[in-house]
Amino acid sequence: MKKILLIGNGAREHVIGETLKRSRHGVELFIVGKTKNPGLSAICEDYLLADVCDKNAIKDFALKVKPDFAFIGPENPIEKGIVDMLAEFEIKSASPFQTVGRLESSKSFTRDLLEKYKIPGNPKFKVFYNEDGLNNFFDQLGRAKGGQAEDFVVKADGLKGGKGVMVSGDHLKNKEEGIAYAKECLKEGGRVVVEEKLVGQEFSLMSFCDGRHAEGMPVVQDHKRAYDGDRGPNTGGMGTYSDSNHSLPFLNAEDIEQAQSITQQVAEALFKETGCYFKGIMYGGFMAVKDGIRLIEYNARFGDPEAMNVLPLLKTDFVEICEAVISGDLKGLGKVEFENKATVCKYVVPQGYPDNPVKGEKIEIGDINDAGRAGSGASGVLKTYFASVNQRDDGLYLSGSRAIAFVGIADNLEEAERLAETGVESVKGPVFHRKDIGTAELIQKKVKMMQDLRNKA
Ligand code: AMP
Ligand code: GLY
Repeated sequence: MKKILLIGNGAREHVIGETLKRSRHGVELFIVGKTKNPGLSAICEDYLLADVCDKNAIKDFALKVKPDFAFIGPENPIEKGIVDMLAEFEIKSASPFQTVGRLESSKSFTRDLLEKYKIPGNPKFKVFYNEDGLNNFFDQLGRAKGGQAEDFVVKADGLKGGKGVMVSGDHLKNKEEGIAYAKECLKEGGRVVVEEKLVGQEFSLMSFCDGRHAEGMPVVQDHKRAYDGDRGPNTGGMGTYSDSNHSLPFLNAEDIEQAQSITQQVAEALFKETGCYFKGIMYGGFMAVKDGIRLIEYNARFGDPEAMNVLPLLKTDFVEICEAVISGDLKGLGKVEFENKATVCKYVVPQGYPDNPVKGEKIEIGDINDAGRAGSGASGVLKTYFASVNQRDDGLYLSGSRAIAFVGIADNLEEAERLAETGVESVKGPVFHRKDIGTAELIQKKVKMMQDLRNKA
């Protein structure tokens, strides 16, 4: 029997907990979360209600539980050094130390690392510590595009919950607005990254990493915009899909090989740079562009929703993977295996999300017990993961962010999408979701966009 301390209370942590519980070794879960996740509550031994960055509370709980290891779901506790704190008490984690966690928490660190170690994947970029040369660099990026288009991205350096990145055309109208935002970032954080705006299709490649070796998972595509047709404000991610061949319809084998190779090189460079092995999940946000792929960013944790696409397909024992990550012997475990199934994940979110979400309203999940069996196949399964909902005696209440994720798992995308839709449609209350995620129509648009882009190259 293994005791595992799991930090976090979202749908991502729900699926992490569920997957750990599937281990053949037998698992007792101990959760630290800000709110009580109904899914995790149902499968854990004990649940500490505390801030996921509260070092004292986590330390006391961990010393009482004496876990075999810890797993950290979200980015903030990694940035705050919860892994480092636990290590002081000889509790190991399958999540990274603070110094290598900078891969996510500092965008300039990651861009500089790729450049220093000559790893491909960076767009044209520059890190500024003051205003010197800022104006010139914006002009340079403009000139590269023929001197008219103002294609640039300005990134605050640090964890901003996805809100620190401003893209020209989307959030910034012209060079003047770009410079003004860059100055704001300098004033606030003393650093800003300005880079070329890339055009293409984004995908997520997450890898298990023991510091020496990175083992890739099936690739996934997220949908950040709130509304159908990729319109509306950016969100934490409204839904995701992955295909049965572990690729995506707009990618070729070389794109994935390149992304995997970049992640492997970054893992090695991180050790050379810091003397610390990155142990945990390296989640690369990549963009397929006209002449290959580029790196948008790295995260030092599982993606949310991406974790819900890949973990239900994991065939290799997750506890054994975590232990190999910690001991540095991931290679010795052999190839990490996933089922060849397509998945579609859709989040139900409160009306008004992300800017003015309704809160405190009751929702109900309809009868979906038969959804996995209905329709065309014995292959289909529908899974439900809880996120920002409060469970009270009389039911579930919205608490303001992404509420419940439904994941359809089937032999093909069409069936997986249908299953996910059955789940989200069953929810009654003031909520909405994206109907188009995982549909043939939207995927075809992405395939066509990539074809047009690459045929022009
Ligand atoms: P990040 O926090 O770095 O993932 O950025 C948030 C989002 O901004 C990404 O998911 C992209 O959609 C967009 N983005 C970031 N960097 C670039 C870039 N260089 N070119 C185009 N879009 C970008
Ligand atoms: N899927 C976006 C994220 O986890 O950051």
